[in-house]
Amino acid sequence: MAKTALITGISGQDGAYLAKTLLERGYRVVGTYRRTSAMPTNRLDELGVAQQVEFVDMELLEESNIRHVLQKLKPDEIYNLAAQSFVGLSFELPLYTCDVNAMGVLRLLEAVREACPEARLYQASTSEMFGKVQVVPQNERTPFCPRSPYAVAKLFAHWNVVNYREGYGLYACSGILFNHESPLRGLEFVTRKVTHGFARVALGLQDVLRVGNLEAKRDWGFAGEYVDGMWRMLQQDTPDDYVLATGRTTTVRDFVDGAAAAFGFALEWNGDGDSASGVDTKTGRTIIAVDPLLYRPTEVALLLGDASKAKAVLGWEAKTSLEELIQMMARADYDRVKTGLARA
Ligand SMILES: NC(=O)c1ccc[n+]([C@@H]2O[C@H](COP(=O)([O-])OP(=O)(O)OC[C@H]3O[C@@H](n4cnc5c(N)ncnc54)[C@H](OP(=O)(O)O)[C@@H]3O)[C@@H](O)[C@H]2O)c1
Repeated sequence: MAKTALITGISGQDGAYLAKTLLERGYRVVGTYRRTSAMPTNRLDELGVAQQVEFVDMELLEESNIRHVLQKLKPDEIYNLAAQSFVGLSFELPLYTCDVNAMGVLRLLEAVREACPEARLYQASTSEMFGKVQVVPQNERTPFCPRSPYAVAKLFAHWNVVNYREGYGLYACSGILFNHESPLRGLEFVTRKVTHGFARVALGLQDVLRVGNLEAKRDWGFAGEYVDGMWRMLQQDTPDDYVLATGRTTTVRDFVDGAAAAFGFALEWNGDGDSASGVDTKTGRTIIAVDPLLYRPTEVALLLGDASKAKAVLGWEAKTSLEELIQMMARADYDRVKTGLARA
């Protein structure tokens, strides 16, 4: 009989890629959506899998709602991807972020313990928990030092996953994933903001793209590969925690350079820090500028992951190069913006 996988947050980037990979592996896939949202299936539609997914409404803020869903469904595997996932917004909504990302996971763990203790659980943890990094590169043994309400809440969830595994014997894994992007990434995240913004500039819909800290360094991989790592974590004999990362780090500035080249701009930077801006020397027009209002109150300076444990135990490694990722995102955004124009 087909295994049942429950994916919370299926409308998000990772939810869509994970649904696709699990369906390809023969799973019955049930995804949660919030009744208060408009059940956005656009990402699942883009991957052509929306029709094969079953939906159930679930809100991480409501304990009884979570319990009822689990009691009814009795899933074999649970992938908890639901979260207020935007770090920047967590400074504006710290209490809400904590309620969803920290207490929401505790509610889920309690419900699993009660309703389906045999289920295997994946928790979407994050490299942001390393924050003000203590060691470079970061792996499963690196001390945490979170620098945002988002990361603090995720760390609370991470330790609860470890405690429920050790204390109650749940099969629960925490995947400490470094940034992973794709054409399905939310528009609020810097990589997508850049490729979407440059698509609009290239098509004459926008003059200048405004970005925050150009010197922040991130380890960016392709989301389509990371969901395979999530699945592999739940197929082991014993549950454990794993870092998934590419092992390369890039500044936002270098990502912008790569994206500019993908759109055919000849970008030249002027000035530094808060006053930096970039000119397309082909036209002499300023196409990108730093806006200090977009800086985070506390920044995470240098994220660089060491995924050697995932490679050794799970046989997982990131294969997509940053150039391929940028090309993929740039092409998708150019086509989307152009099609939108053609329709308008
Ligand atoms: N992408 C990365 O680089 C990265 C790295 C490390 C960890 N993570 C974590 O991995 C997970 C997936 O990331 P993603 O990029 O796919 O995020 P995403 O695109 O922002 O998706 C988040 C999902 O969570 C749902 N959600 C939000 N609040 C909820 C609530 N109160 N109850 C139930 N569902 C709720 C959203 O539903 P609506 O559609 O209703 O808003 C959406 O489906 C997140 O937990 C994120 O924090 C991501």
